[in-house]
Amino acid sequence: MEELRLDRILADGGAASRSEARRLIKAGRVSVNGRTAVNAEQKANPCSDDIRLDGRKIEGKMVYIMLNKPADVISATEDREQRTVLDLLPEELRRRGVFPVGRLDKDTTGLLLLTNDGDFAHVVISPKRHVDKVYEVYVDGSLDNGDIAAFGDGIELRDGSRCLPALLSADENDPSHAVVTISEGKYHQVKRMFASRGKPVSSLKRLCIGKLYLDEGLEPGQWRKLTSQEIKLIFGE
Ligand code: URA
Repeated sequence: MEELRLDRILADGGAASRSEARRLIKAGRVSVNGRTAVNAEQKANPCSDDIRLDGRKIEGKMVYIMLNKPADVISATEDREQRTVLDLLPEELRRRGVFPVGRLDKDTTGLLLLTNDGDFAHVVISPKRHVDKVYEVYVDGSLDNGDIAAFGDGIELRDGSRCLPALLSADENDPSHAVVTISEGKYHQVKRMFASRGKPVSSLKRLCIGKLYLDEGLEPGQWRKLTSQEIKLIFGE
């Protein structure tokens, strides 16, 4: 995220109006990474810098959330009939315009990112960026070396389209269980890849995006904000 003027960061974070923020900075009540700020024009990064007013942390305007998605909610912001992932968040975050970054199917569980930062979401799901996504899969059937090779070559889906090479790591103790890493996001991609091998997916959980792993301390339905280090992990930094 780009650096912003300090008075703007305080205003975006709801701590004060721009003019009030300038007064607070002049009064020495604002710190950046432990140092008292003196100038409202000073720039800082609201994601990665520790900005405080009277010692209280100022959150940036943008929020970045990891959710352990349960199986019974849809990846949408609203729906007339079904519960959405937004229903799992408090009103304060819903009011800030948070939305899911890409989609998981209703029956898919695990790591889902939510944010109100459209640029960030665009980069994470952009086909050009090839951000890796890792899924834990159970299939009906037994996975074998032929499947591993086919995934490595790039699976041809039943509609004739070809996927980028993917890494299939089969579980030596359970042939119906594997971990698969893909670097694109076609519609129902993982299910369609296994279906093309005649081994339909019976359970799917996303474990990782880039190098950011789902916090296994989060129960299904629980969420927490990402740290600035974790945001970097998504892009492998
Ligand atoms: N691939 C699928 O088939 N479903 C998901 O929910 C995610 C990836």
